[in-house]
Formats: sequence, C-alpha cells, structure tokens
Amino acid sequence: MRLELRGLTKKFGDFVADDAIDLVVEPGRIHAVLGENGAGKSTLMNMLYGILEPTEGQILIDGAPVRFRSPGDAIAAGIGMVHQHFKLVGPFSVADNVQLGREHAKAGIIDRGAARRAVREVSQRFGLALDPDALCENLPVGVQQRVEIVKALSGPTELLILDEPTAVLTPPEVAELLAIMRKLADSGMSIIFISHKLKEVKAVADTITVIRRGKVVAEASPTDSEAELAAAMVGREVTLTVDKTPAEPGATALAITDLTVLDERGLPVLNGLNLTVRAGEIVGLAGVEGNGQTELARAVLGTLTAAGGSIELLGTEVTRWQPARRIAAGLGYIPEDRGRDGVVGDFTVAENIVLNQYRDAPLSRRGVVDETAVRDIAVKAIAEFDIRTQGPGEHVSALSGGNQQKVVIAREFSRPRKVIVAAQPTRGVDIGAIEFIHARLVAERDAGTAVLLISAELDEILALSDRVAVIFDGRIVGEVSPDRPRSEVGQLMIGHTPAENE
Ligand SMILES: Nc1ncnc2c1ncn2[C@@H]1O[C@H](COP(=O)(O)OP(=O)(O)OP(=O)(O)O)[C@@H](O)[C@H]1O
Ligand SMILES: [Mg+2]
Repeated sequence: MRLELRGLTKKFGDFVADDAIDLVVEPGRIHAVLGENGAGKSTLMNMLYGILEPTEGQILIDGAPVRFRSPGDAIAAGIGMVHQHFKLVGPFSVADNVQLGREHAKAGIIDRGAARRAVREVSQRFGLALDPDALCENLPVGVQQRVEIVKALSGPTELLILDEPTAVLTPPEVAELLAIMRKLADSGMSIIFISHKLKEVKAVADTITVIRRGKVVAEASPTDSEAELAAAMVGREVTLTVDKTPAEPGATALAITDLTVLDERGLPVLNGLNLTVRAGEIVGLAGVEGNGQTELARAVLGTLTAAGGSIELLGTEVTRWQPARRIAAGLGYIPEDRGRDGVVGDFTVAENIVLNQYRDAPLSRRGVVDETAVRDIAVKAIAEFDIRTQGPGEHVSALSGGNQQKVVIAREFSRPRKVIVAAQPTRGVDIGAIEFIHARLVAERDAGTAVLLISAELDEILALSDRVAVIFDGRIVGEVSPDRPRSEVGQLMIGHTPAENE
C-alpha cells in the first residue's frame, strides 16, 4: 500500500496538534516518525486509524482519497495499529482480544472457534507464537505486545502503525520486534514506526520524518548520527552525556535488610535482599527485568508488604508503615507504570502535580484548599518541566504519553524529600526531557537526596549512578563501579558471579 497524507491537520479547539502534515509511506518500507513529547505523532496516527477526524487535509491510499469514520473503516482499508498504551482487556483470552471489534463479533457475540483459528493462522503466518486461550492479564508485557501485533495483523493489513511499541519491552524483546518488523516489510507491508529510542530508529528505519510542534521539520536518514536526529527533533543541540562530579555521600538514608516479599503463590520475589543508599549518592539498580525490581520499588513505597526483613528510612524503621506515612516522612516515588500508579487521568494537571500535598499546609488550611497557591505551583512546574499542555486546568488524560510522565516527575520534584525511588523515570519521554530529568536527578543528589534509580536501560544506569547494584532472582548479587566494562555488569545480570567465572 502507498499511503499519502496531504496537509493533514488536527485542531483541538484553538490548539493545532497537527499542522498541514505531508507524508508519503512507500510499500515495503519502514517509515519512522520522530518528534518530541506532544509533537503530534499519536494524534496523526489516530487520524490515520479513524479514531480522530481530521480538521483539514486528505488521506490517500494508492492515489485515491479515503475518509475513515471509525477504526472499522481503517481496518477494512488495510490499516492495522498498535497503540501507545495497550488496549487489551485483561480478563479476556488472547483469541477474544484479537477478535474484539472485528467482524467475527457479529451482534456482539464472539465466535470463539473462528477467533481461535484466526489467531493460530496469523501467528503461524508471521512467526508470532501465541496461545489463543491464555488470559491476557497473565502474560508478560512482551507477549501482550505480540497479541496487539497479531490483532493489528489479523485484518487485511497492508499498513501497520506501531506507536511506541518498544517503550515497555526488554532489550531481547526489542530485538525480536525489530526483526519481525523487517520481515513484515520484506514481505511488502508498509510500516509506520514511532519511537523515542534513536538507536532502534537508526537500526530499523528506511526513512525518517521529524515533526515538531505539529509540523514536519525535516526528512532525515537512518545514517544520520543520534546527535543529528536529536537536534532535528528538539530544535537545539542536546547533550547526550551526563555531567557530574564525584558523589560526596553522607549518612545512610535508605537501608534495606534481608527483605523478603512473596508473590500470590507464596514464592519469594525478593529473597533476603540487602541494599543501602546514602544521602547524596545515586545507586543504580541494574538487572534483567523481572528479577524483583518492580517489587523492590513497591516494597519501599509500601504498596507491597514485606514477609521478612526491614526497611529503614532516615534511621527509622518503616517496614509496617502505610505509603502515605512514608511519603510524609520524606520519600519520593516515581512509579514505573504511570497509567496505574502515576497520574489520575480525570484530574487536572494542577491536581495531579499537588496530589501528595494538597491536604496539608500551606496548600490547605482547615480543609480548605488554596486554589491560587495550587495554580501557582502548577504554572511553575509546567514551565520548569516543559509540560506541553493548554494549562493547569486541562485534564491529564488529554496530554500526550510523555507529557503525562513529565507530570509525575514534576510532582515528585516539587515537594521536599530526602530519598527518591525513581523507577524507569525516562520511559516514554523524549530526548530533550531525558537530558533534563538526568540533570535534575544529579542536582537532587548534589543537594543531599539519596537516589535509588531503577532502569531497564543499562546506559542510563551507567551514566547516572555512583554505585551500581545488580539484582538477580530477588537478591543483590554484586556491586560494581559504573566505570567498569558493561560486560562485567552484564555477567552479573545473568547471575554469573565472578567466582563462578574462574
Ligand atoms: N483529545 C485531546 N484534547 C486536547 N488536546 C489533545 C487531545 N489529544 C491530544 N492533545 C494534544 O495534542 C498534542 C499532541 O499530542 P500527541 O499525543 O499526538 O503527542 P505525541 O507526539 O504522540 O507525544 P508522545 O511522544 O508524548 O506520545 C499534545 O499537546 C496533546 O496535549
Ligand atoms: Mg504519543
């Protein structure tokens, strides 16, 4: 399929999210769309997929203008889309999810046999192994992503839209997805690929279009350097390295001793874990996802209960404390899953920014919230964190994915705290925002905050941390200095301790 967009425009009220976009996607090509958070990428894809109606402009397929009134129209025309935020229904099976909203669901009744056959057929044709009867909520994210792809491919698909498909994937899952994309393109499919990870874009894209504030600003090539691509996106030079002086750690601020946490089957997900973070240092937690990182973060916050061991915050044992009490005692928390624990979509940007402090003085006196003070804090945070929004009163659900993440970051940085747990702090944010968040974490450290950084990006861990602790199978298996070779950290991450190597 050859897709052409001519002057495609989307306005929300007076705000122009996409401004006369011209774009051509050739058959069999992987076309990357790059741009900052809020540049208009998802909005553009939603117009292509019939979710949003263009304000102006035309969509042409193989030269003929088309108009989509719903995703059903787009699917019928050969377009499949994997959304930035998963739209799977957790308690439903893979087959049911794939068939939801498609023809097999005649009059709202799903033909289970047809659904299962369709899943098997599509997974075989594209080499995407799936069990049609598995419940989606029990699947790892990488497999859920595969369900989304099979769903997008189960129509007469000739153009596949992937909106940040790699944001939540582990490095091996990313490699697998890129290989699948290449195979699909080689078989003639056109692919639109959105990602903030320039390495991936350079590895897989044939063509790159850069948009900024709703306008096409450049056509780039995958042979351009990351620095060149970053500059084209953001409109200025971006520092891709982190500037910092050696840490001057003070007293222990977070002490985790022999921590054990059990999953719902009673098996240990944290198994006697020991870790300390001192004031004024960044400790990075490196590890292959699924080795207890998520549980550690949640146990420190207090949303998971310890079955054994203790957690001390600033010298006080908090193991049995509720999360709110820990937060009041000086704990900051950037959650990895902003949709679930991060923002409240129905609340405004301002309400989300003051979420943990509006009940207390000075924002609230005798139960009356000082709206002007809340607004002032929000206006300041919006400017400081470059949150692209129409204002403090806008609902967070209207913000782009990366800008929702910036709201969480702004909230955690705009109140006093002594210890901060930052889980995947830069997931889904653009390269300019990454530079900013990294600089802020280092500034926090220099102001004496203890930072526990959890990240699936080893580059990020090595660039920011003063000490690197490696987690494997629910335990810290070693500690390395961040200037040691990557391979040394890598060996520990897969459970090889130095003694075993010799
Ligand atoms: N339904 C809506 N109502 C009002 N504004 C909206 C709506 N949907 C999107 N916007 C605005 O349009 C702009 C573009 O958003 P979009 O989601 O397309 O960005 P994006 O390029 O996908 O960013 P990200 O990389 O963060 O996902 C944002 O400023 C967003 O706030
Ligand atoms: Mg988006």
